Amino acid sequence: MEAIVFEQLSKTYPGGKEAVKELNLSLEQGEVFGFLGPNGAGKTTTVKLLTGILSPSRGSCRVLGVDPAQHPEQVHSFSGVVTEHAQMYDHLTGMENLEFYAALFGLSRQQGTQRAKQLLEQLDLSDAAGQKLGAYSTGMRQKLSLARALLAQPKILFLDEPTSGMDPESVLRVNRMLRRLAKEEGVTLFLCTHQLRYAQEICTRYGLMEQGRLLACGTLEELQNRVSAGMKVQIRAKKVPPALGLALKADGIWEGNISREEEIPKLVRQLVELGGEIYSVSAQTPSLEEIYFALTGAQEVLL
Ligand SMILES: Nc1ncnc2c1ncn2[C@@H]1O[C@H](COP(=O)(O)OP(=O)(O)OP(=O)(O)O)[C@@H](O)[C@H]1O
Ligand SMILES: [Mg+2]
Repeated sequence: MEAIVFEQLSKTYPGGKEAVKELNLSLEQGEVFGFLGPNGAGKTTTVKLLTGILSPSRGSCRVLGVDPAQHPEQVHSFSGVVTEHAQMYDHLTGMENLEFYAALFGLSRQQGTQRAKQLLEQLDLSDAAGQKLGAYSTGMRQKLSLARALLAQPKILFLDEPTSGMDPESVLRVNRMLRRLAKEEGVTLFLCTHQLRYAQEICTRYGLMEQGRLLACGTLEELQNRVSAGMKVQIRAKKVPPALGLALKADGIWEGNISREEEIPKLVRQLVELGGEIYSVSAQTPSLEEIYFALTGAQEVLL
């Protein structure tokens, strides 16, 4: 059975804003799906539809075969959710919060305490376990929210900016944890994030949203093929003839655009035949970040 299926899923808010427009998509179990797009693209709205917090205006979605609009409690019984602003209890400690939610998820007291301890340890929060949540930093709060989402060993995880506010070490730790969950336990991850480098490290497939529509969807390789820029090839060489259309980027470094890797040997052969002296050749495929900017038409801000 597919993990998540969208069929013409659409949501118009009461004020008339069409936040999600005819989304069609299907996710296999164990996928780490990166749901990307600029502010206001409709990512959080989609997560709210998947978790039954909102009902679709048209179309539908299913999570492990269950319609969240009809049976939100069933979806919650096998899902974990990390939202942008996690609501938990400030006057309770980290441990007490987890114990409280564990009981809510139906774990016994002993199971709850054990699982909470284990997760606090895995997320490097053991030292803060006895501290009131009100005294947690943003990143610590976010980690506790992830621990809460993992308490009942979910089959599907909905993660809306899970690593926002975390330091690089915590991001790495969470990254490893999520990858392991997907690989070893087959947990499906639906991950909304603006951190494209982070997404590229863990996602197996991507969906790119803009203004409520799915602009593109596929693996990194599939998206790379969609971007007309193709690949860049950098050649360190001397006596480069102008006929080849290579552009001088730095002293002795030339750059050219090709559409496929297979074009490299031909380019190298031509260059040698025309008297060029090659010292090194390297090909660069566009990163997720470059693909994102190419597809969304957003302007890359150079700092
Ligand atoms: N409760 C609401 N009522 C009316 N409009 C809303 C509501 N929530 C969101 N919207 C609008 O729906 C659109 C999509 O918002 P959404 O929060 O889904 O975007 P997002 O992709 O999660 O953005 P971000 O990257 O900023 O988190 C936006 O134009 C937003 O203003
Ligand atoms: Mg959002």
